[in-house]
Amino acid sequence: MERSTFLKFFFLLLTGTAIGETVDRILGTLGDSALLPCNTTAGNGMIQWLKDGKLVASQHSATPSPSESEHFSLTDQGGLIIHGLLFSDEGIYLCGGPQLDSIVVTQSIELRVVSGPANLTAEIKPASVLPNGTLFIQNGSTVIFKCSSKSHPSQSLSWSFDSLASDNTTLASGNGSSLEFTISKIQPSYQGTHSCIAQNTLSSSTASQSTLLLVYYAPDRHPDCQCTTGNDSSVLLLNCSWDGAYPLPTLHWEEELDTQGLPVLNISENNNTLVVNLSRPQLHEGQTFKCTGYHPMSDPKEKSCAVTLRAPYPQGDAMRTAFEGSNVTLTCTEVSSLPVAKTTWRKTIRQEEIIPSSKYIISEPGPTFSLTIVNISKQDEGVYFCRSENPLLVRELEVFLTVKSSATYAGGIVGAFIAVLIIGVGITVGISAYRNRDRICLGNVFGQTHERQNDILNLVDSDEDEIFEEPVSRITTTANGHTTSLVQIHRIPSSDHEDLGNTDTEAEARTQTPEEGHVPL
Ligand SMILES: *[C@@H]1O[C@H](CO)[C@@H](O)[C@H](O)[C@H]1NC(C)=O
Ligand SMILES: *[C@@H]1O[C@H](CO)[C@@H](O)[C@H](O)[C@H]1NC(C)=O
Ligand SMILES: *[C@@H]1O[C@H](CO)[C@@H](O)[C@H](O)[C@H]1NC(C)=O
Ligand SMILES: *[C@@H]1O[C@H](CO)[C@@H](O)[C@H](O)[C@H]1NC(C)=O
Ligand SMILES: *[C@@H]1O[C@H](CO)[C@@H](O)[C@H](O)[C@H]1NC(C)=O
Ligand SMILES: *[C@@H]1O[C@H](CO)[C@@H](O)[C@H](O)[C@H]1NC(C)=O
Ligand SMILES: *[C@@H]1O[C@H](CO)[C@@H](O)[C@H](O)[C@H]1NC(C)=O
Ligand SMILES: *[C@@H]1O[C@H](CO)[C@@H](O)[C@H](O)[C@H]1NC(C)=O
Ligand SMILES: *[C@@H]1O[C@H](CO)[C@@H](O)[C@H](O)[C@H]1NC(C)=O
Ligand SMILES: *[C@@H]1O[C@H](CO)[C@@H](O)[C@H](O)[C@H]1NC(C)=O
Ligand SMILES: *[C@@H]1O[C@H](CO)[C@@H](O)[C@H](O)[C@H]1NC(C)=O
Ligand SMILES: *[C@@H]1O[C@H](CO)[C@@H](O)[C@H](O)[C@H]1NC(C)=O
Repeated sequence: MERSTFLKFFFLLLTGTAIGETVDRILGTLGDSALLPCNTTAGNGMIQWLKDGKLVASQHSATPSPSESEHFSLTDQGGLIIHGLLFSDEGIYLCGGPQLDSIVVTQSIELRVVSGPANLTAEIKPASVLPNGTLFIQNGSTVIFKCSSKSHPSQSLSWSFDSLASDNTTLASGNGSSLEFTISKIQPSYQGTHSCIAQNTLSSSTASQSTLLLVYYAPDRHPDCQCTTGNDSSVLLLNCSWDGAYPLPTLHWEEELDTQGLPVLNISENNNTLVVNLSRPQLHEGQTFKCTGYHPMSDPKEKSCAVTLRAPYPQGDAMRTAFEGSNVTLTCTEVSSLPVAKTTWRKTIRQEEIIPSSKYIISEPGPTFSLTIVNISKQDEGVYFCRSENPLLVRELEVFLTVKSSATYAGGIVGAFIAVLIIGVGITVGISAYRNRDRICLGNVFGQTHERQNDILNLVDSDEDEIFEEPVSRITTTANGHTTSLVQIHRIPSSDHEDLGNTDTEAEARTQTPEEGHVPL
């Protein structure tokens, strides 16, 4: 029994390996201390420690060399303490009784010295750093993830990815001292926390470094500028929207000014939509508002859109004639208004709004608006208005409807013939007068303004103060489009054609009203 034990011990001295016995393994960390216990069963408690066949510590022996005594020490129970572990301390340790003949090996312990993971570095390139340490990168770029760490004896390294949308997934793993992988076209789906994890294969201790990576992108297109009318018809809403950017862009609405001065609008916000409102006193024809979107990933850095306001301008025939019992359709077109105008029909100088009924058929939507008056009677004669309103102003087309009785139909034809004849003569006279204008003395003020200005516009403007008392800040009435016919009618007051007589007086009365409060168009 003792003999065989001795032989075994002897063998262990030579090979450092126990035969048929499980060897306890103790892990010590580099630089730390390790305690190797010795469960003594030896009678006198005299303990010896051998490493790889060499005596390293003994309870009764003479003190070993000073350096040795600092590195190794024994506890009262016979355990071996190793201070400041080195990789060279790895090996098989045996403890036992003092005499070779009677030694009882009570303990064989394998000591492994581990270190790390240490000095872990994780890099994501080429990313930019935000002030709070978060990284961001442009969508579509090529990104290199590189991680390194030191471990002894070995380690496993992995890159793991965690986002709100997905659970932890491992993007790459390996067991060298560093690990690198590339995403050639990064997508917003890679936005999240990227961690490099190193694990010591022996001690299983881990180290990791996590970085939040944001993937930025901006839309290729320009912001979208819209202008609409608010709840109140005199309020303009400007809506700039620029979707598809991360993070949110900065939008800026500004009035474009040709001259120096304070813009009525100059506002910025960090959002993908920016809605502002402006009211009638702040607005005028031709005013331009520009929305600029700024985003770090946009190419170019800023993109913009603009809107230019246009006042409404209803156009159509200013004169209509209809026979009793027939149907007549008055039309007006509204194409220029921005934002889109609200166009309505009104009648009489009191401007009563016409409600659709069996009598009045109103067609919508534009750009051509028509009013059909069914079964015309003499009461329908009078003035009608095609009224267009947008936040800039209200402008009206005035249409005068003349109703003729069917009895005068035949007379009407003759009358019309005579009218055409007279008009023809008028035109001829007019043209020849115009050709010889240098010979005609135009002593009349009205004639002079004719040359430069659109008399029809003057004609209508002059009416506004007398006729309309609208609760709006600007109101303009116009008859347009058929300049010549109006001028012709104006030239024949000498004719005593009864049907056109009324119209003439009407037109003349209006034209000659002195000009006042002219609103520029
Ligand atoms: C050593 O002794 C302790 C109790 O004293 C015991 O828990 C432990 O298992 C023993 N170890 C060995 C290797 O016998
Ligand atoms: C870690 O880095 C420090 C300083 O860079 C260095 O002194 C140390 O030796 C490194 N540790 C390891 C295990 O390489
Ligand atoms: C850093 O800032 C960004 C943007 O400002 C934000 O999305 C992110 O959550 C911040 N990160 C931390 C760790 O606070
Ligand atoms: C990101 O970039 C890719 C092309 O690299 C493109 O197909 C994708 O639409 C972009 N995603 C966003 C949200 O812009
Ligand atoms: C994902 O991994 C990181 C890093 O190891 C860890 O901190 C986080 O708790 C993990 N999240 C989930 C949901 O497992
Ligand atoms: C780790 O290295 C060993 C060889 O040393 C290799 O067989 C093994 O596949 C490696 N593991 C990984 C995850 O790369
Ligand atoms: C516009 O009118 C709608 C309902 O008519 C109301 O809900 C909304 O708050 C109004 N908006 C403004 C800005 O007054
Ligand atoms: C502004 O425009 C966007 C995009 O067209 C739209 O979704 C949003 O509802 C608009 N906002 C307002 C207040 O009109
Ligand atoms: C617009 O506002 C910004 C600051 O709010 C100011 O710096 C800028 O001068 C303003 N622009 C004009 C034209 O007044
Ligand atoms: C962006 O605009 C929307 C709509 O106007 C608003 O509800 C939201 O609070 C705004 N977000 C920020 C960050 O200002
Ligand atoms: C319009 O402007 C007024 C003040 O200028 C503001 O109180 C109101 O909320 C604005 N309405 C909208 C829809 O922006
Ligand atoms: C006038 O219009 C009404 C309604 O559309 C129709 O019933 C009637 O026949 C029309 N009259 C004439 C003379 O066209």
